[in-house]
Amino acid sequence: MKSISGFFSLGVTVVSVKSKDEINAMTASWASPVSFSPPLITVNISPGRATHNMIAESGKFVLNLLAEDQMKLAEYLGSCSGRDTNKFEEGGIEYAVGGKTDAPLISGCVASLECELYDKIKAGDHTIFVGEVLSVVEGDSDKKPLLYHKSIFQRIGGGF
Ligand SMILES: Cc1cc2nc3c(=O)[nH]c(=O)nc-3n(C[C@H](O)[C@H](O)[C@H](O)COP(=O)(O)O)c2cc1C
Repeated sequence: MKSISGFFSLGVTVVSVKSKDEINAMTASWASPVSFSPPLITVNISPGRATHNMIAESGKFVLNLLAEDQMKLAEYLGSCSGRDTNKFEEGGIEYAVGGKTDAPLISGCVASLECELYDKIKAGDHTIFVGEVLSVVEGDSDKKPLLYHKSIFQRIGGGF
């Protein structure tokens, strides 16, 4: 069957995590808000990603919502694995340390959501990680989000 994800218009996030003194981050576009109260989000991650087991081990992660000027970062963090490389050192990625999670808050994002793992559901070849948002770190309010559609990075147009 044809890939179904290309039909969706998605935001682009970076999921960052700290587990056993190691930090890592990966690009993820399969992410969504799911509940107001408690405030819950989901991100769907393949068990093959290094980030997958790091979230399961630590029980915490950060969902960083990327801005339209962060496409190169999204490409980089989505094209290599933390198993083979220290992406933060090699990529010179700027970040602060999250007060609730110890995980990296990527600089320059629209917002970073610090999350505690609320649930973990196996769904086909991915795992749905449900995160309860403990803290919202807002970035530059003038920045627009980076989008992804038909396997191409996109930017937001004007509103109606
Ligand atoms: C635009 C884009 C979106 C992606 N979305 C996801 C996703 O939602 N879930 C997933 O498991 N992998 C996704 N990936 C692939 C991971 O980012 C990629 O496999 C990454 O290298 C995993 O890194 P890690 O092994 O350090 O965790 C995406 C990649 C790109 C470029």
